[in-house]
Amino acid sequence: MATQRGGFSSRLGFILAAAGSAVGLGNIWKFPFEVGQGGGAAFVVMYLIFCFVLCFPVMVAEIAIGRKTQLNPVGAFKALGYKNWAIVGYLGLASGVLILSFYNVVAAWAFGYFVDILFGTFNVGEQAFGTFVADYVKVGGYGVLFMLSTAFIVSRGVSGGIEKAAKILMPTLFIMILALIVYALTLPNAMEGIKFYLIPDFSQITGKVIYSALGQAFFSLSLGMGALITYGSYVSKKDNIVSAAAAITLMDVGVATLAGFMIFPFVFSQGIETDGGAGLIFMTLPGVFESLGSVLGIVVGALFFLLLSFAAFTSTISLLEVPTAYMVDEKKIPRSKATWIVAIFIFIVGIPSLLSAGAVDSLTHFVTLKGAGDKSFMDFVGLIASDTFLPLGGFLIAVFTAYVWKKENFNAEMANGDEEIRGSWLQSYVDFAIGYVCPILLGSIFIVTVLDNFLGIRILDILFG
Ligand code: TRP
Repeated sequence: MATQRGGFSSRLGFILAAAGSAVGLGNIWKFPFEVGQGGGAAFVVMYLIFCFVLCFPVMVAEIAIGRKTQLNPVGAFKALGYKNWAIVGYLGLASGVLILSFYNVVAAWAFGYFVDILFGTFNVGEQAFGTFVADYVKVGGYGVLFMLSTAFIVSRGVSGGIEKAAKILMPTLFIMILALIVYALTLPNAMEGIKFYLIPDFSQITGKVIYSALGQAFFSLSLGMGALITYGSYVSKKDNIVSAAAAITLMDVGVATLAGFMIFPFVFSQGIETDGGAGLIFMTLPGVFESLGSVLGIVVGALFFLLLSFAAFTSTISLLEVPTAYMVDEKKIPRSKATWIVAIFIFIVGIPSLLSAGAVDSLTHFVTLKGAGDKSFMDFVGLIASDTFLPLGGFLIAVFTAYVWKKENFNAEMANGDEEIRGSWLQSYVDFAIGYVCPILLGSIFIVTVLDNFLGIRILDILFG
């Protein structure tokens, strides 16, 4: 059984693959624009706290469930003897399919920008982003390419595909980001950017900022849908999973933090507003690169979007792996075949998202929600999967671990490969967090999302003024 499923060949391989899952568009695209909208350093402080206090314990729980059962999220709950809880696994599968369906489109934007900048076919200008994303034939082409590459890696298996890719991509990503930071810091006004990023103004902290920082931390660490149950299922019984989870959290937080040191000097060097939202990366930065002059602009711009593509790639790999593992374990379909079936299916699910960035009007203005207002199809899927399903999934995983599977069993699995954890303060904290902190915070995010976006009840304003 174990040999058919495959597994990571080393602890480092697992850490890099899981860090690759975590480090993605969430770190380099979303984190800086959330910082920009959420008042700078105050957001960063909240984000860091939530990564360790809330997310780290959930990560340990997910890895423990996976390693204990050596199965995909659906099979894992069943194998522990709780058939009804397999619903959490199915919820995770649905989240994975939905998230990958639109995530692949954004990844295609990043990769398309890379190619266009490199070959000089990029049009800088006011309307460049809008024109680019509305060109569904072109973006669709890059999307096919991105999904094919993802499926190629996943089809090769855990150690021969996922682990190998992570071992090459993660160090390269790290070098690229360092090079870009060193360069960004030489730009005029770079220090203004750093100040905005590092000096917190705590008066900026509102209910909304806390809510965004919580959601961002949780998404960034790839939690709530069993991605880490799945990766955990390939980890050796001899490995220390608590220290592995700590290393994964640190790497993810590290890359997000580094991304800020790169983006804000870029943005401030041009005297641009920081609250550009989702367009901060795709609309603002190309102008910055252009102003560097032709050759330098091409090198820096292409390097930046290649970095973004690499980050997205290790994440799409993990998103595809979850439903693939389900097909392999539960439906007994050979890995390679399972991968292609799932990848094609998800690409099709993503077509309306592809068309919802300007190409088709009814998808671009898909729904008007009571609270969240006008949403494109893509934004709507994001709202359902990333903002609603993931916190709900995380809440259920925490409740399951603490009260159904029970702390003794959880702690026993934690202690496999780490005898010293028994009775330590760290174990006490993880247990406390899984039992109280995580259910309360994750349950709250879920409730706020539903009330605020779907029902138009501004609960955060009511509570925090
Ligand atoms: N964490 C990734 C990012 O920050 C996205 C991602 C990959 C993800 N796999 C996931 C998010 C599983 C939630 C669950 O871009």
